[in-house]
Amino acid sequence: MQTLEAIKTRRSVRSYSDTQKLTPEQIAEVVEYWLYAPSAHNQQARKFFIVTKQKDLDFLGELMQWWKMIPKSSWVVLACFDDSKLKSPDFIQQDMWASIQNILLAIHDKWYWAVWVWTYPREKVLDEIKKYFDFPTNIIPFAILAIWVPNEELMPKNLKVDWKIEIL
Ligand SMILES: Cc1cc2nc3c(=O)[nH]c(=O)nc-3n(C[C@H](O)[C@H](O)[C@H](O)COP(=O)(O)O)c2cc1C
Repeated sequence: MQTLEAIKTRRSVRSYSDTQKLTPEQIAEVVEYWLYAPSAHNQQARKFFIVTKQKDLDFLGELMQWWKMIPKSSWVVLACFDDSKLKSPDFIQQDMWASIQNILLAIHDKWYWAVWVWTYPREKVLDEIKKYFDFPTNIIPFAILAIWVPNEELMPKNLKVDWKIEIL
């Protein structure tokens, strides 16, 4: 897929395939694209986990009412950062956003489906996730990416946003 086409046609998908799952290796292959996103002061404090156990997906799916689709995904990516590596703490969110968008576009390029689910900056949610996975205090969960095998019967909607670029 060409870059511009990928940017224009990526959509959030919250459906699932009952019968098929991607392998953790297929997911690892797309997650690797976080590496190529820019990073403020080149701080490179990002860290990604692939969650593969059904009981862990069930735990995440129960945390928030908007996350009910998570247990039915083919694993999820937990996008985190390492607090102890920050050189520019106030820019880490921007590092994370850039990396996550890279991963979403890589997922789209492979024709898998995904949705980005926030965790940061709600401390209660972060603490529950950290405690559950027994993360050291310096590992901060930033977002969850739930990923699916595409289901042809549930094609994503078209983008409908009113937009206009203003030239100043
Ligand atoms: C920071 C952030 C948090 C999001 N959190 C959720 C979420 O918790 N649950 C969900 O279903 N979608 C979530 N989304 C996906 C948005 O709902 C989605 O991007 C938006 O509706 C636009 O649709 P599109 O991605 O198909 O263009 C999130 C997106 C972003 C950028």
